[in-house]
Amino acid sequence: MTAHTATSEFCDECGTVQTAHGTRAQCSACGGLLSLRYDPPAERGPALQRIFDTRLAAGADVQRASGVWRFRELVLPDATDDEIVSQPEGNTPLVARDRVAEWCGLNSINLKLEGANPTGSFKDRGMTVAITQARRISARAVACASTGNTSASLAAYAALAGLPALVLVPNGMVALGKLAQTIAYGARTLLVRGDFDDCMRLARSAAENLGVYLANSINPYRIAGQKTIVLDLLQQLGWQAPDWIVLPAGNLGNTAAFGAALREAKDLELIDRMPRLAAIQAAGAAPFAASFAGNFRERHRVKAETVATAIRIGDPASYERAVRAIRDTNGLVIAVSDAEILDAKAVVDASGVGCEPASAASVAGVRELVANGSIRRDATVVAVLTGHVLKDSGILLQYHRDTEPAPAFANRPIEIDADLKAVEDVLAMSRQSDS
Ligand code: F0G
Repeated sequence: MTAHTATSEFCDECGTVQTAHGTRAQCSACGGLLSLRYDPPAERGPALQRIFDTRLAAGADVQRASGVWRFRELVLPDATDDEIVSQPEGNTPLVARDRVAEWCGLNSINLKLEGANPTGSFKDRGMTVAITQARRISARAVACASTGNTSASLAAYAALAGLPALVLVPNGMVALGKLAQTIAYGARTLLVRGDFDDCMRLARSAAENLGVYLANSINPYRIAGQKTIVLDLLQQLGWQAPDWIVLPAGNLGNTAAFGAALREAKDLELIDRMPRLAAIQAAGAAPFAASFAGNFRERHRVKAETVATAIRIGDPASYERAVRAIRDTNGLVIAVSDAEILDAKAVVDASGVGCEPASAASVAGVRELVANGSIRRDATVVAVLTGHVLKDSGILLQYHRDTEPAPAFANRPIEIDADLKAVEDVLAMSRQSDS
């Protein structure tokens, strides 16, 4: 294996290089966000593809088992096997679903099922790297602000690493499954009287003043890990770039990571053309879509409100990096309504796959972009489903069972007496409505 020099952190804004051993997630000179810099791998193109393909093919050590560390040359090359904190994670399925494609107006669609990660969301891909780094620098404790998934993931990986974890979540605005996980995995859980943007401010200030290691997606190690969603799906497509990669967007860490991964994949000749990114926001939490509509002349901030609580964010932390990701990929940013998100979710769920509301924004976005002519019917499209269907069962039951009048795809459960006649009546009713 190639010997690597230590990974360093450099500032996106002013270019200052810092040691890779600090707890700060932001530049000490100007406060800008940091990125990682490491020696590029000696191999490129097909030779590099072969390294990743060989690791995928067999074996049980960390770089083979994990869909993050398989790409370690592009994640954290100088981390050693015994430093790595891995569940393992990644290696999530990429599946075609005809019913979803049909609803979107496409010939076909591939769904990247990030809900299949160990804690049920894509956050595990960044967290394995951030917690590995926290251990490398002997951090005393780790912390994050979260709408729920980051906190669940942080809690699980901190437990694995034996590190105390502190999470700040907006009181009453976190889906039950996520809150339950965070508590179960043993994180100190603070229910902040405020929204996510308040939690984020507080977490930044706690990291700055109390010396805890901040594991939000402004942390460059998180971004390094999340790049592997893209690498993983490109590998599954035999290194053929799709026309579009579509993802939900909230705090914009993932949009930034996708942009970085695609730039790198293109530079290293893993792919021969750039896919276009489409970042989809919820209409009530769409500051990035508003900025895009104005050609990014102005940064917008809003008071966020949406049923998709994972992306209920009004002042996204990774704004600048996400702008670059959209510009570099000739991408698009749009917003979809809560009603569209819930219908898309019902269609995805009924295809036997399932996802949480925020994840369904990507599919609702595809449908909108096909309808307005931005995506062609015969385009190759990957929509990323970021979180598991069981994360937010509250919204799910509300849609199917409780909403009046019944939404388009409602599957009402039916209460019956314990007798066969009642079952027969229901079957007869179903046959009628099917014919
Ligand atoms: N989808 C899900 C399921 C999420 O949990 C998030 C973010 C996103 C999409 C958006 O990704 O923020 O990188 O633009 N969840 C964060 C959290 C904010 O705290 O769990 P993003």
